Amino acid sequence: MKKAPFILFFLSLCLLWSCSGKHQATPYDFNIPQGYPKPIEPSDNLTTVEGVKLGRKLFYDKRLSRDNTQSCGSCHQQEHGFSDPARFSKGIKGQEGHRQSMTLINLAYNPYQRFFWDGRAESLEQQAFEPVRNPIEMDNTWPEVVKRIRADKEYLNLFDEAFGTRKIDSTLVTKALAQFMRTLISFDSRFDKYVRGELNLTPSEFNGYNLIQSQVKGDCFHCHNAEDKLFTGMRLLNNGLDPESQWTDMGYYNVTKNPADKAKFKTPTLRNIMVSGPYMHDGRFNTVKDVIEQHYFFGGNMSSTIDPNMEYVNQGLDLSATDIQDIITFLHTLTDDSFLTDPEFSDPN
Ligand code: HEC
Ligand code: HEC
Repeated sequence: MKKAPFILFFLSLCLLWSCSGKHQATPYDFNIPQGYPKPIEPSDNLTTVEGVKLGRKLFYDKRLSRDNTQSCGSCHQQEHGFSDPARFSKGIKGQEGHRQSMTLINLAYNPYQRFFWDGRAESLEQQAFEPVRNPIEMDNTWPEVVKRIRADKEYLNLFDEAFGTRKIDSTLVTKALAQFMRTLISFDSRFDKYVRGELNLTPSEFNGYNLIQSQVKGDCFHCHNAEDKLFTGMRLLNNGLDPESQWTDMGYYNVTKNPADKAKFKTPTLRNIMVSGPYMHDGRFNTVKDVIEQHYFFGGNMSSTIDPNMEYVNQGLDLSATDIQDIITFLHTLTDDSFLTDPEFSDPN
């Protein structure tokens, strides 16, 4: 056959073109267990193996802060569910903010696309712009960060592999950070093993589970829903921490300017809750026991924006001391050691 060499020639041309042409990053396999919800990704920033690898390096890179002392990982520590055990994280100048660091757990599930305690960021990509230039966090500028990253040959290759370009800019940096954060998925706790039929809960754990799911007892499930396995509805609402006269941080209202949003904050997940204290947007409680005994047990404080699901507001919850202990025992089953120690999420440097 005379045509064969021609065909071969064209075939190899095609191969050459496809290799040198548009780059192909490898789609990231989230490996979600059956019966669990699927992560949500924006179509213009699909998660890839190469993007995650880059995002992870950036997440732990102290060069993002002005004086090279602080990375994202400084205030979002893996063993604490990517939160900070300090009530208020210290920025590079040693200054403290007035909000507790948030956990970074199952962030890929966020139907409302609202991030931060007050919901001011509308995507993870958008969120990631902020810490770098926040004067009481990393106190840097994006041009400076991009300059430092461009000077590092290893980064040039990593950006090339992830995004097919060596033209590094702040948008690509935040895209990579968002990709890494979407992989921080925690579905392998003792509770998950129970869901998968691999073990039985103890009677105390099981009682705690039923109590938080019961409308007449703990009544936590409206807001920290166990059914979809996320233990948060992710909504911004007021769980009655303070009476109106004591409101200092207006939360979601700062974003919307709607008086109905005053003192509303993002509902955090109860996953890994036992290792992620202190608790609430201002870190006012040191232990989960305090959260229940000093807050929820009394039903919360009445105000004009308190959520209707705080049903026992002037009444308090009908929980015995054993019930409270059982709720805490159950919450321990949401600690996911494989997540908290997963080497894929640790500092690669
Ligand atoms: C100095 C400590 C500090 C540093 C450094 C820091 N954070 Fe945070 N992070 C916080 C605090 C505090 C909050 C809550 C702030 C608020 O709500 O106003 C937060 C909130 C977040 C949230 C919102 C989570 C949610 O559920 O809405 C994300 C995501 C996040 N940080 C990612 C990052 C990334 C990425 C970096 C690095 C570029 C970073 N953080 C650097 C302290 C820090
Ligand atoms: C009306 C909705 C609602 C109900 C009901 C509710 N929570 Fe919450 N929960 C929230 C919100 C919102 C926050 C964050 C509030 C803030 O920081 O201002 C929160 C915060 C928490 C925190 C602190 C989390 C952290 O990371 O700081 C814990 C622990 C908690 N809730 C446990 C419970 C338990 C246990 C119950 C049932 C006894 C319960 N919640 C019932 C909405 C609710």
